[in-house]
Amino acid sequence: MAKIPSGVGPHFPQVVVLVGATGDLARRKLLPGLFHLASAGFIPGCRIIGVSLDDLDTGSFRTFARKALDEFSTRKVLDADWNAFADALEFVPLAAGAAALKAAVENAEKSFTGESRRLHYLSVPPSAALSAVQLLGEADLVERSRIIMEKPFGTDLASAVSLNARLHAVFNEDQIFRIDHFLGKEPAQNILAFRFANGLFEPIWNRNFIDHVQIDVPETLALGKRAGFYEATGAYRDMVVTHLFQILAFMAMEPPTALEPAPISEEKNKVFRSMLPIAPSDVVRGQYTGYRAEEGIDPESDTETFIALKCSIDNWRWAGVPFLLRTGKRLAEGQRIISIAFREPPKSMFPAGSGVGAQGPDHLTFDLADASKMSLSFYGKRPGPGMRLDKLSLQFAMHDTGLIGDVLEAYERLILDAMRGDRTLFTTAEGIERLWEVSTPLLEGPPPVRLYAPGSWGPNAIHQLVAPRAWRLPFERVWRDPNRLGA
Ligand code: BG6
Repeated sequence: MAKIPSGVGPHFPQVVVLVGATGDLARRKLLPGLFHLASAGFIPGCRIIGVSLDDLDTGSFRTFARKALDEFSTRKVLDADWNAFADALEFVPLAAGAAALKAAVENAEKSFTGESRRLHYLSVPPSAALSAVQLLGEADLVERSRIIMEKPFGTDLASAVSLNARLHAVFNEDQIFRIDHFLGKEPAQNILAFRFANGLFEPIWNRNFIDHVQIDVPETLALGKRAGFYEATGAYRDMVVTHLFQILAFMAMEPPTALEPAPISEEKNKVFRSMLPIAPSDVVRGQYTGYRAEEGIDPESDTETFIALKCSIDNWRWAGVPFLLRTGKRLAEGQRIISIAFREPPKSMFPAGSGVGAQGPDHLTFDLADASKMSLSFYGKRPGPGMRLDKLSLQFAMHDTGLIGDVLEAYERLILDAMRGDRTLFTTAEGIERLWEVSTPLLEGPPPVRLYAPGSWGPNAIHQLVAPRAWRLPFERVWRDPNRLGA
């Protein structure tokens, strides 16, 4: 196993109280992530107390966790590692109350020889967040603790403001970590490296050279076991007001004075302050056919499973540059891209029929998959007589570096950061409240949902929304496969 560099993990052993321990996120990401962090030696000691509404005991929680690892761990689960992890797992049903939770945490702490810290992870929907906070308060588990709150943080401005106020009655702001896992993705941080560690692109990173930006995250996924959560949340609250806007801020912010929490938050919050309120006329809401017939969904549901929107950042760098965002479930492809379209030059010297401009503008594209990729497309001359132009591209894939095995999954990275008290990649109360504020016109007057066929790219209206521009996806050329020679 690769040696873990010192200083990347917390100093003290951790007791993790995982509220929502039998939910979808815990199964897919949190339990596999904690397993990796604990078994790879990132944490000097770790015990996990699962809490949920389900009436399990510790034995059945261990079985649940094992199944989750078998299904979702991206790394091999060795017996010795599993046995150690299983021993560190315990379960307290919510119904057992605060005293039982307190006893379980204190018991776990006794297994460590010296000091330890507590990390509470609330993997629960917004409607359950406050009661979980109150439970932790009643159980007297605030001291020596940090708390990670899952998104969406509230459901609108009023609920986010009230959630913040009531949260502060129990936890201090410096204990609160509002997570947005897109910021933990390696390629999201690579946007910062790419923009600020290189002299090449930053001078043209503005409205004089950039025509528009797309942040496009179509998913082929359906709802799985999340119907209850999703029906009450919808694509805008689930993805846009959280992940897509956070990525937009990394893409659009001014250079921070340091890559540290306060300067980064300040620059992100300036982007959010410059965002114009989202006009319902700039939004297409969609729902896939068949959604209303699914179990747990209202047969007359108005929840959107798809959303596309145009938003604007009214500052000196970006005035007049549309930011086009799209995401949805059961779409044609699963992709996570940021695509920057550059302004086109006057092409007057090229002969008619040369193909100049025929395949859209030059693009810089970031793929936010764990194995990130980047490409820069441009026109070049097709070999041979005359002047015929083709769209070509320079591509980079993280695979090429041979370091792909070092990538931490987004939740792993962020859990580790929270254990160390590093909030650089977490969101702030001010930023979140501002995002709800710009969302108010849309939340108060949403356009009607339009149906789309599963497997499509969304309702037809998405094309009018961006005209005369066009959606970048589906790609006209596929990414080169780094494993294929000569590709
Ligand atoms: C989650 C949303 O936050 O992000 C899901 O709740 C979505 O609906 C998921 O599928 C996408 O994350 P990723 O990391 O798989 O792109």
